[in-house]
Amino acid sequence: MSQLKELWTYLPPRRQRQMFLLLILMLLSSLGEMVSVGSIFPFLSAFSNPENILNNPKLKLIFDVFSIETPIELITLLATGFILTVIIANGIRLITVHFRIRFASAVGADISNQIYHKTLQQSYIFHVSQNSSHLIQTVTVDTDNLTQNVLIPLATLINNAFIIPALITTFIFIDGTIAFGTAILLGGAYIIIYRTRRKLLTRNSKIITEAGQKKIKVVQEGIGGVRDILLSHNQEFFEKVYQKSEYSLKKAKATNNVIAQSPKFFIEALALSAIALLALSLGKNGDFSRVIPILGSLALGAKKLLPTLQETFNSLAKIQGSKASITRVLIGLRRQVNNQLKISAIQSLTPLPLKKELKLEEIWFRYSEETDWVLQNLNLTIQAKTTVAFVGSTGSGKSTTADLILGLLQPQKGSILVDDLPLEGERLYRWQKNIAHVPQSIFLCDGTIAENIAFGVPHEKIDLEQVKKAARLAQIAEFIEYLPAQYDTYVGERGIRLSGGQRQRIGIARALYGDASVIVFDEATSALDNATEKEVMKAIESLSHNFTIIMIAHRLSTVEKCDRIFELSQGQVITEGTYQELLDKSTKFRHMTTAI
Ligand SMILES: Nc1ncnc2c1ncn2[C@@H]1O[C@H](COP(=O)(O)OP(=O)(O)OP(=O)(O)O)[C@@H](O)[C@H]1O
Ligand SMILES: [Mg+2]
Repeated sequence: MSQLKELWTYLPPRRQRQMFLLLILMLLSSLGEMVSVGSIFPFLSAFSNPENILNNPKLKLIFDVFSIETPIELITLLATGFILTVIIANGIRLITVHFRIRFASAVGADISNQIYHKTLQQSYIFHVSQNSSHLIQTVTVDTDNLTQNVLIPLATLINNAFIIPALITTFIFIDGTIAFGTAILLGGAYIIIYRTRRKLLTRNSKIITEAGQKKIKVVQEGIGGVRDILLSHNQEFFEKVYQKSEYSLKKAKATNNVIAQSPKFFIEALALSAIALLALSLGKNGDFSRVIPILGSLALGAKKLLPTLQETFNSLAKIQGSKASITRVLIGLRRQVNNQLKISAIQSLTPLPLKKELKLEEIWFRYSEETDWVLQNLNLTIQAKTTVAFVGSTGSGKSTTADLILGLLQPQKGSILVDDLPLEGERLYRWQKNIAHVPQSIFLCDGTIAENIAFGVPHEKIDLEQVKKAARLAQIAEFIEYLPAQYDTYVGERGIRLSGGQRQRIGIARALYGDASVIVFDEATSALDNATEKEVMKAIESLSHNFTIIMIAHRLSTVEKCDRIFELSQGQVITEGTYQELLDKSTKFRHMTTAI
């Protein structure tokens, strides 16, 4: 309950207003139900004993208005009234159902959008420490579950909270004792069943979310690593993990479904037996004129009340069975968005140029408080428009340093200075507009070459001239312009149709598409063969002295021409200088050159 209240606070005010209107509609619909069930009573009474009603002095005025004298006229009037109320009541009910489901779905969409928004706005450090299948599960499956199994049932529950008392009140008008008995009997039975089943529903809800997440993970891993799987023929391992999650997921869902549906049969038997027993006791004294209207109204009432009670139970069961999803959705919603500035404001900032130098001063960094320091008092200075390289053994902190320079990570101690001013607040965002990154493996999106070069820019806003310029600088223009569709050539999700060298050059073109003048290449050529690497290096070298270039490389041949090389070890710069100087100074560096 407190979880649902918290969920409510995340809704935009517009939805809260809509909820209010919906409540009014629900109230109307319950009044409609009352009238439609209530109106069967006079109708059936007139059938069994018309004279009695016709002679009722209290109703005389009404009969005069409609000029009713004979029983058949009376029954026709009541029948017409009954038909009209039933049509109107059901009409209102239909409208309510429509708005109820639409509203709950819209709320589900609001929440899902908010979680995706908040997830994308999290810092890089958040993403490197999270399991992506968990995030995907929350954004997609959990929020969908929330709509289908929490919000829609919840709206139903609220609706029924109007309808059930309305129906019972109608019964009280017809016969107080019977109404009271029915309420206790049916309500009690449902409550007992719900209480005994609640734990199982909650347990299954956990199984459902956990197995669902495992499923996403194994699909991601299986399809992402399909090359290795095909080569090592270990499909069976992935299938087994998938099957296990799938079976337990479906089993838990099925059990919850059965629990939600099962009371119906039990209760229906109970209610019908009760009606039969009631008929017996009412009919004992031989006065059937009272039996028929009461039984008739009760039968209609039961026809309405039983499904409503069942629906209420079903909704409660669904909500209980989705508790784990609610918890996860709330975790997603509670995430704070740290940006001081709105994205639109950031987008309109001008890039911060690097005029003189970039300086890292006494930098200390670790990924979390529980882990060791990755960078320990790291110092280095990069002159504008030079090409520098970070070398060092694996795990020495090269990529981490690059991510700090990119402003993706923030140091716990020390400062990063651009032309002597620290990278903070707005300056950080402006700096990020001036810096681009080419990773070891380029992520290609499903789209055209132009869309991949101008990554994340809406199709109609792509500046084709700029794309061409970037492609030329990245030395891929010739290849692209040779293709029949040129820049509109479609590239599959994983760029299946491009070679490694072409992909990397697309990545370089992407880095050059913006206004960046500082480019970080993190092992951008490491996965390429020697000949292809030379081609890509040519593209990178052609940029030197127009751009500030930071290269991270394992192969030392790629850093030979750099103006300055920093050798990192255990999170510190241990030597720096030109290639030749490092050969003279550093034995480790000499070893690296001979090792390759
Ligand atoms: N997300 C992370 N969470 C915790 N520790 C991390 C994370 N990423 C990297 N590290 C640790 O930080 C250290 C430096 O990693 P980094 O990736 O910067 O090294 P690197 O020099 O780029 O290595 P490589 O040459 O293998 O790419 C390593 O010890 C690594 O285990
Ligand atoms: Mg690295």
